[in-house]
Amino acid sequence: MKKLNILLAASEVVPFAKSGGLADVAGALPKALRALGHDVRVVMPRYYIVDKEKYGLKRMEGSLGVPMGSKGELWAAVYEGLLPGSDVPVYFIEYDAYFGRKGLYDEDGKGFVDNDKRFIFFSKAVMQLAKKLRFHPDVIHANDWHTASIPVLLNTTYAYDEDFRDTGSLLSIHNLEHQGKFPKSAMDVLSVGWGHFNADELEEYDGINLLKGGIVHADAINAVSKKYAQEIRTSEFGCGLERLINEKSYKLYGVLNGVDYEEWSPAVDTLIAQNFDVDAMEGKLACKEALQKRFNLPLRKNVPLIGLVGRLAEQKGIGLLAAAIWKLMELDIQIVLLGAGEKWAERFFSELVARYPQKFACYIGYQNDLAHQIEAASDMFLMPSLFEPCGLNQIYSLRYGTIPIVRATGGLDDTIENYDNDHKSGTGFKFYDATPEALIGTVKWAVDVYNHDKEGFAQLQSNAMQKRFDWSEAAKGYEEIYEKIIAGRSNT
Ligand code: ADP
Ligand code: GLC
Repeated sequence: MKKLNILLAASEVVPFAKSGGLADVAGALPKALRALGHDVRVVMPRYYIVDKEKYGLKRMEGSLGVPMGSKGELWAAVYEGLLPGSDVPVYFIEYDAYFGRKGLYDEDGKGFVDNDKRFIFFSKAVMQLAKKLRFHPDVIHANDWHTASIPVLLNTTYAYDEDFRDTGSLLSIHNLEHQGKFPKSAMDVLSVGWGHFNADELEEYDGINLLKGGIVHADAINAVSKKYAQEIRTSEFGCGLERLINEKSYKLYGVLNGVDYEEWSPAVDTLIAQNFDVDAMEGKLACKEALQKRFNLPLRKNVPLIGLVGRLAEQKGIGLLAAAIWKLMELDIQIVLLGAGEKWAERFFSELVARYPQKFACYIGYQNDLAHQIEAASDMFLMPSLFEPCGLNQIYSLRYGTIPIVRATGGLDDTIENYDNDHKSGTGFKFYDATPEALIGTVKWAVDVYNHDKEGFAQLQSNAMQKRFDWSEAAKGYEEIYEKIIAGRSNT
């Protein structure tokens, strides 16, 4: 296979800046593509929190001119580093007026009012950087609405640019709910011509929809799981774009994310109380005890401990959980929750701690160490998502022998097999209806297996821990899409 030049643009990349799974993907996929022999490079904004010293970032010579339409040309600095543990270059676009702020997209839950300009600027900077580096990408891989302008720019402003003569584009959709909808004044800085402000491209309800433009213009789209790629063609999951996505289904793929097992494996995890693995499970109990201690929960080996880690957003089924919690608290279980997000949920779950100190614990905030510790310590992991494009935590859970209890949607459905009592097969517990009753019933089922079918539960753990979702496999899926994009372009 020919060595490809791939430029991956993302608004967050592990370990430099992260708010969710997109960062995990953008930090891991490039390394896997590199291992397949491709020249892959990553571009992200240089946020205030990206520590230049810690990561040894070096400033590139000169400045990068970014034409911003009515705002004229803005000048950015570019810093260069490597994805840790690899030789994959990462370029950071520094422009403090846009990115020198505390949050990535918002502060105190309020989105920045200039997010349109910030990410149109970033997308244009990616294009300008490719020129400056003389990189000549075969494919630019954009991710979510933040970089969805790139396929549009490629087909408009840069359509006849020699530096992009052979460049195609892939847009990964990690979450269709966030589309980058802004007032039409954003067209002034995107500056691809008002001719593209029409219902078949960028316009929607007289505003601009960046993700829509990306979907129209990208050579291919990937929706991070097969099931989600199907779901987004329906009105239930399509967030208003289902018709367009159906029209474009000929270029729609569903390559599932992988997991970085160097980071998320109980055998090597340095953030947990004691290591363990499928053939030596004692350490898992030590992790459970450590977590119970940390949260002042009763130190009980045999009580089913259920973990939850994630953004406290409606998507994650926090409404269902809140409605179900009273009944769940009647069970002899412990729950540990880690998350931040919607204010009502932060308050609601914090207040539960005082009410059920023996059963419910939570930490409101973002803490990577604790995410690992909850994965390692819990017996089960709850993800009652209303929709879940892929979901990573349930896949991490599998590796830690922490049995997922999930709603069968998107990647959750694709990665978890339901427990089958007769054959002792499966890797988790699934429910289908988005109702508190279904959630409660399934937690009760899981608790029952844990308490009364020890052999079955141990088998589930062993099945789960032996599953692998390697990035090397996922990268091959992406490689195939890139190849198709390139073949498609040379046919035109
Ligand atoms: P999403 O991208 O929708 O947030 P994913 O399951 O794909 O969901 O990825 C979430 C990632 O973010 C996981 O790596 C998870 O461990 C991490 N994460 C989410 N919330 C927190 C938190 N409060 N503290 C630490 N890690 C978190
Ligand atoms: C999104 C989705 C999540 C997915 C992640 C990485 O934020 O909500 O399901 O795993 O992106 O693709």
